Amino acid sequence: MSSSQNICLIGGSGFLGTELAGQLINRGHSVRVLSRDLRKMKSLRVVPSIEVLQVDPYEANSLADAIAGQDVVINLVGILNTSVGKGGSFEEAHVNLASNIRDACGTAGVKRVIQISSLKADAENGPSEYLRSKGQAVDILKDGDLDLTIFCPSVIFGNGDGLFTRFANLLQAMPAMPLACPDSRFAPVFVGDVASRIVAAIDDPETIGQSFNLCGPDIMTLREIVEYTAEVLDISRPIIGLPASIAKAQAFVMELVPGKPFSRDNYESLQVDSICEACDGTEPTGIKKIVPTYLGKMNRQSRLQHYRELARRDNDS
Ligand SMILES: NC(=O)c1ccc[n+]([C@@H]2O[C@H](COP(=O)([O-])OP(=O)(O)OC[C@H]3O[C@@H](n4cnc5c(N)ncnc54)[C@H](OP(=O)(O)O)[C@@H]3O)[C@@H](O)[C@H]2O)c1
Repeated sequence: MSSSQNICLIGGSGFLGTELAGQLINRGHSVRVLSRDLRKMKSLRVVPSIEVLQVDPYEANSLADAIAGQDVVINLVGILNTSVGKGGSFEEAHVNLASNIRDACGTAGVKRVIQISSLKADAENGPSEYLRSKGQAVDILKDGDLDLTIFCPSVIFGNGDGLFTRFANLLQAMPAMPLACPDSRFAPVFVGDVASRIVAAIDDPETIGQSFNLCGPDIMTLREIVEYTAEVLDISRPIIGLPASIAKAQAFVMELVPGKPFSRDNYESLQVDSICEACDGTEPTGIKKIVPTYLGKMNRQSRLQHYRELARRDNDS
């Protein structure tokens, strides 16, 4: 089916949701984005074709009302760390919310659901509460009478990401970079590619009942990710790989810092490599094509130079 559909994004105000909403609009779909707080929706509220609604997704009736009349519901809610308040635990944000969505879809008569999970999410064997609860969410949705498609990305990169942008900020602020789990491996996947795969699934009934791992073409250790970030910023910092005992102590201390920049659960997630085969279908985007375009320190001149080099390479090939 390639006609315009009504698509509802739950947790659509974030990094992936903003990209996805843009791509859906470009494909002619009508987009409704639910948020717990409309103030977070500044960038999406200015797009006239996107409807934004403030909804508490933990309120079963409010959620059912908000998704009524929609053809597709996409759940993008995910937390990497717990916080105080409603929805602050992994159990609430991932597991309870999934069962709320399943029930609300039943009430509202919505069958088609797309769940954004995580690579290596596993209800039984996930090493962290994050990965176990993401796995439980999938199991709950599979239990419903839904036309379900699941996407499991490795770490996602793009402008405003929590990976290269975060390390860029840390590298610029610190004289040296103490790094937990420096040998953990990732296959960073471009946010534009993740969103394209989700958009394509909407029009492809063959994806119903399937789960897709999403990885980019570059397999990198955490140390290589930090080294590459420093290279793009053109700065030099010693990177100090921490042994397990010190990394765990670092996680314990960082949990006490506002915003929890690193936690014991993050440490546990890093115990499993987040890698898979690169996305099939269209050519997946590598980091070198995108990351230099958005890392903060780059000036206008070097960005122009980067585009010139890319254009030259495209012309040469
Ligand atoms: N980014 C990555 O590298 C990556 C990698 C693998 C998987 N994923 C998965 O991809 C999905 C989207 O990731 P993202 O990077 O776009 O996340 P994000 O930027 O943090 O956005 C997630 C959205 O979830 C909502 N949310 C946050 N905490 C919540 C809570 N406690 N209860 C209910 N809603 C909450 C927020 O919307 P409101 O505050 O507006 O309600 C937020 O905009 C997530 O499920 C994530 O687990 C991401």
